[in-house]
Amino acid sequence: MPIPNFYFQALIILLTSGSALTGAMPPQNPVQCNQAGCTLSNSYGVWGDRQPCHVTTAFYPTTESELLSAVADASRRKLKVKSVSKFSHTIPKLACGGTILISTERYNSSIAVDPANSAVTADAGAGLRAVIDRAAEAGLSLAAAPYWEGVSVGGAISTGAHGSSWRGRGGALHDHVVGIRMVVAAGEAEGFARVVDLKEGDSLFSAAKVSLGLLGVISKVTFSLEPAFKRSITFNFSSDDGIEEEFMDHANKYEFGDIQWYPSRHEAVYRYDDRVPMSTPGDGVNDFIGFQSNFALVAKTVRASEKAAEKSRDTNAKCILASSFVAYKKLIANGLKNNNLLFTGYPVVGHQRRMQTSGSCLYSPESDKTTSCAWDPRIKALSFFESTAIFPAAHFAAFVRDVKKLRDLAGPASFCGADIYNGFLLRFVKKSDAYLGQPKDSVVVDFNYYRADEAGTPRLHGDVWEEVEQMAFFKYMARPHWGKNRKVGFLRVGRKYPNFGRFLEARKGLDPLGIFSSEWSDEILFGREGGRGDGCALEGLCVCSEDRHCSPRDGYFCQWGLVYKEARVCRYSNTSTS
Ligand SMILES: Cc1cc2nc3c(=O)[nH]c(=O)nc-3n(C[C@H](O)[C@H](O)[C@H](O)COP(=O)(O)OP(=O)(O)OC[C@H]3O[C@@H](n4cnc5c(N)ncnc54)[C@H](O)[C@@H]3O)c2cc1C
Ligand SMILES: *[C@@H]1O[C@H](CO)[C@@H](O)[C@H](O)[C@H]1NC(C)=O
Ligand SMILES: *[C@@H]1O[C@H](CO)[C@@H](O)[C@H](O)[C@H]1NC(C)=O
Ligand SMILES: *[C@@H]1O[C@H](CO)[C@@H](O)[C@H](O)[C@H]1NC(C)=O
Repeated sequence: MPIPNFYFQALIILLTSGSALTGAMPPQNPVQCNQAGCTLSNSYGVWGDRQPCHVTTAFYPTTESELLSAVADASRRKLKVKSVSKFSHTIPKLACGGTILISTERYNSSIAVDPANSAVTADAGAGLRAVIDRAAEAGLSLAAAPYWEGVSVGGAISTGAHGSSWRGRGGALHDHVVGIRMVVAAGEAEGFARVVDLKEGDSLFSAAKVSLGLLGVISKVTFSLEPAFKRSITFNFSSDDGIEEEFMDHANKYEFGDIQWYPSRHEAVYRYDDRVPMSTPGDGVNDFIGFQSNFALVAKTVRASEKAAEKSRDTNAKCILASSFVAYKKLIANGLKNNNLLFTGYPVVGHQRRMQTSGSCLYSPESDKTTSCAWDPRIKALSFFESTAIFPAAHFAAFVRDVKKLRDLAGPASFCGADIYNGFLLRFVKKSDAYLGQPKDSVVVDFNYYRADEAGTPRLHGDVWEEVEQMAFFKYMARPHWGKNRKVGFLRVGRKYPNFGRFLEARKGLDPLGIFSSEWSDEILFGREGGRGDGCALEGLCVCSEDRHCSPRDGYFCQWGLVYKEARVCRYSNTSTS
């Protein structure tokens, strides 16, 4: 099969550009205002561009008292109010629907380390990186964090963001929180807003840890820290045989282990990752390849290759891309660098502050317009769906077996589309007492796949992604990550959380008028299906029940799942009848 030139170009540029990049354009500000008001968009451009999210006024408090008066203003006027960070990295439109928007962009100046109590208290808008670095200066480490550092502490805990660990307090950032100060609405007697100061053990604390911005605006977050430590990481690229049995041992054996599973390649990459004494030599960094700066040209070329493959229904081309990317990641150890510069061999040992989370594409002078994060909407490069399903550990093996069956029936090549990204990333999150956190030790599965520029465009082997999605969320009742996913992932979400009712009670108590909730956030919280318009299933707004929910014009019809028979998916058929 001839390989279009595109792929060679993309790969050559990718392989030769590499990691020596320094400058790049920082992500654009998600809040843009003019005389007519403001619009809020997501950093990926998944919403904002296509479906603008308008607000009348944006406030930029710099202190708690300014935050208090912004909330009081909204509360007095009974206006809807939403908060957002300067990153706005969350995919569901939780931050939409406010008349007033409170941005924490400028509320980031205080980061106070308390060495006596091994804790740090940060303003909600503080970036994760700044908090981690400040703690490290005091000889302390934050044990958990999402792998992406471009988040605010308030935003990250609000959606349940996590890394990977079943040990200690676990892999979710919110489970390292020991205090939250939150500004909530109040009656006139209290000046229409007040501060609630919550500590571990307080009855509202479990509601406030993961609150989707629905209870009030978080003002300050206190994290528990540990004495600074180092980690030692080795990636073992091996077969995916027995992965459904291995994952449990792996999670128990390595404090920060995870597994990247590339189903199309029958490959699994086991991350051996444990803490080691500070005296262990090594000053490595984890500069994850996916979060490094990219030349716009490279990202656009990759996108063009993906688009061309989609257009010509060329599965093989996608598999070539996937195989090249996996080979490249193996070569450079996913971006691990032994001495801040290059990967020279395993294990890579480095300080926790440099090993847990990364995002080098964030830091760059505005002047360099040639490089950016690969998904920056201004360069019109990568655009993908991100599904994240969270399984109680006991159900996970059966899900993996089902996915393997689906791979056998649909053909391994149908999984290449996700393997171009990170395949299935498996991470571990410990049981949490947060009402909207995980009630059991869990396995988190992330997978990304192609999203067309135009809504309603079918994708190659989209039926496979829909079946995996429905299998996860409906057959195995996996819980959706609150900060990712398409709307279908949230259907009936309330029933999946034993303490959902308690969360709603807390919300009623703290925000009786519902000023922090909007139509948009209610759709997520209550798992309402989006409209059942033409093509809705292709965008993850609905599960198809009629062909028009797919794209009959392009040969995509609503059909049954191959392994999960109850699934309804948009499948390509080259005959005119479905
Ligand atoms: C490249 C990339 C990689 C990622 N990797 C991971 C990962 O490894 N693990 C993971 O779990 N997640 C990951 N995520 C998801 C990310 O962690 C979450 O979306 C996180 O919530 C983003 O934080 P933010 O500061 O941008 O929040 P925003 O998007 O600004 O806000 C998130 C939510 O919190 C609310 N909110 C924001 N600030 C406040 C406040 N002060 N008070 C009350 N509510 C507030 C908002 O209203 C909204 O509902 C990743 C995202 C990206 C873009
Ligand atoms: C606060 O944010 C501003 C602008 O985003 C940044 O320049 C500054 O370094 C941040 N302050 C801290 C303490 O992180
Ligand atoms: C990698 O995994 C294989 C089993 O898949 C095992 O035999 C091998 O020892 C592992 N390599 C390392 C470095 O641990
Ligand atoms: C339709 O697809 C089948 C199976 O993939 C193939 O055998 C057949 O030749 C195709 N028909 C047309 C008209 O393309």
